[in-house]
Amino acid sequence: MEDGTEAPSGGQRKPLLRALGGETLEKPPWWLMRQAGRYLPEYRALRAQAQGFVEFCLNPGLASEATLQPVRRFGMDAAILFADILLVPYALGQKVEFGEDGPILEPIAEGSGIAGLGRNGFSRLDPVYETVRRSRAGLPAETALIGFAGSPWTVATYMVEGGASRDFRRVKAWAYRDPQGFGALIELIVDATIVYLSGQIIAGADAVQLFDSWAGVLPEAGFERWVIDPTRRITARLKERFPTVPVIGFPRGAGFFYSRYVAQSGVDAVGIDTVVSGSFARDQLQGRVTVQGNLDPVALLVGGRVMEEEVRAIRGALAGGPFIFNLGHGVLPQTPPENVAALARLLGEPVDSA
Ligand code: CP3
Repeated sequence: MEDGTEAPSGGQRKPLLRALGGETLEKPPWWLMRQAGRYLPEYRALRAQAQGFVEFCLNPGLASEATLQPVRRFGMDAAILFADILLVPYALGQKVEFGEDGPILEPIAEGSGIAGLGRNGFSRLDPVYETVRRSRAGLPAETALIGFAGSPWTVATYMVEGGASRDFRRVKAWAYRDPQGFGALIELIVDATIVYLSGQIIAGADAVQLFDSWAGVLPEAGFERWVIDPTRRITARLKERFPTVPVIGFPRGAGFFYSRYVAQSGVDAVGIDTVVSGSFARDQLQGRVTVQGNLDPVALLVGGRVMEEEVRAIRGALAGGPFIFNLGHGVLPQTPPENVAALARLLGEPVDSA
């Protein structure tokens, strides 16, 4: 069996992997965070075939089809595995449901709540590896497949808050009051994430991304301890096992701490959110890692001249170095698919040097 420690033959020719390896490409590769999903009519039809969202994610036939749909329509340089960051809490044994207004979890209680989590191993995630294999088999040779997980901090916010949060007061209060106890939860997620991402890589993922959607709510010491440190432990372990597989980190909202994240976390590439300036990313980040981003998802939703101007500015700032075009956050469900088609055409044009 393939152990994933060697690059697949010809793998380095994929434009996404060349950019992740530090090359500056004349036509930067592109993909979009949340490129599969409700803005696509074919996704909505597929989604109607499963009961709950967790069942949908754990059905390799449906999930691999959802992975392939956007690539078939728009020809991105990468597909991203169709799954969710909350499958890790689910695998740890937490109750996870997706309602109309987002995810609902049975909140982990501060202190004692982690007892009992992770007792049953991670076999609940096995169908995801089958989704990776089927997606890989269905993709063109030049298209990369990106696996992913949530970063421990972001996953912990959902586990402790029981869903989305406005002020993160439960999870932050726990981290402040009892850093050791909270650290044990983070440790559990770090270990599960290493198992999960290793499984995805062995099954055929070319690269992996860590989504840290809520990295931006912590002050300095917390950012170091709960964002950078767990990320570094995950990347170090993955690099030991799979030295050629690039890791992309997306610490959304990290602001001033982006530089430190890039210097210390061990990632090969960094996703920048919509408010990071192109010149900052070029001058402070791109010398160390490949930069990925950062079109405003609302500019994609609006389309037309607005989108064209934003795209031109981003490429003007970043396409002179190692760069992957993407959004600054995920595609919004209200986005007209025609705008994504227009973006694909726009990105197919040679980069103007202006
Ligand atoms: O196309 C892709 O990017 C691949 C699949 C993917 C999903 N979720 C599918 C999904 C990925 C990479 C994610 C990541 C994810 N999930 C994040 C990090 C990125 C981000 O948006 O910040 C987070 C925080 C989650 C947790 C989550 N899952 C939330 C908050 C929600 C509800 C709100 C929303 O954004 O839709 C989900 C549900 C979810 N995950 C859907 C999809 C397609 C919608 C469910 C449906 O189809 O009914």
